[in-house]
Amino acid sequence: MKKLFIVANWKSNKATFEAKNWLDEFKINDLEIENKEIVICPSFNLLSLVSSEIRNQKLEVKIGAQDISPFDEGAYTGEINGKQIEEFADYVIIGHSERRQYCKEDNETLNRKVVMAIKYNLLPIFCVQNQNTPVPPNVKIVAYEPVSAIGTGNPDTPDNAEQVARTIRAINKEIISVLYGGSVTSENINSFTKMPNIDGVLVGTSSLDSMEFLKIINNA
Ligand code: 13P
Repeated sequence: MKKLFIVANWKSNKATFEAKNWLDEFKINDLEIENKEIVICPSFNLLSLVSSEIRNQKLEVKIGAQDISPFDEGAYTGEINGKQIEEFADYVIIGHSERRQYCKEDNETLNRKVVMAIKYNLLPIFCVQNQNTPVPPNVKIVAYEPVSAIGTGNPDTPDNAEQVARTIRAINKEIISVLYGGSVTSENINSFTKMPNIDGVLVGTSSLDSMEFLKIINNA
């Protein structure tokens, strides 16, 4: 049975009290989650809180950051570097289309981010917009997120996502897991995760509600 990644990308949402409420309602340990790796990716300011809540409540959940500095520690005002993230997280999302679009991140910057992630033992979840997006060396997990499907309620078809996932693997031999992201809900999750080349999902909007995210995990 394949291992499924169910990753929540909270994006730029939730103040501290909202994150705490979400975690208090998130009764993940009541679910059967064998073969499922659950990852929550909060904003940087919430990493410490989410980490201590997961520890205190003994939740079977991993943490991912949503971004990482392309620089190491040092005189880079405003940046959050790999050494700082490593204290809290096991994963980091790199190359999300929103960062490519709004923060003008280019392939060279993204390569440097992957290098930093690996230096600090963080597993990159590298986002690609289609099968032609370049993937830096040493990336093992890729998330295929077509821009037209993000936040629109208009997901890709499972057949097309499967075909793109298969092509991504054929082009990039190092990749072990391909996830799908874009308007995933508890209703459509299984149509993606049942595909042989899709190893999980990256969920935005539907992960903001803890009950809906529990349903997603349950239905995957
Ligand atoms: P939505 O689930 O809101 O479409 O967002 C997908 C996404 O961008 C996850 O990284």
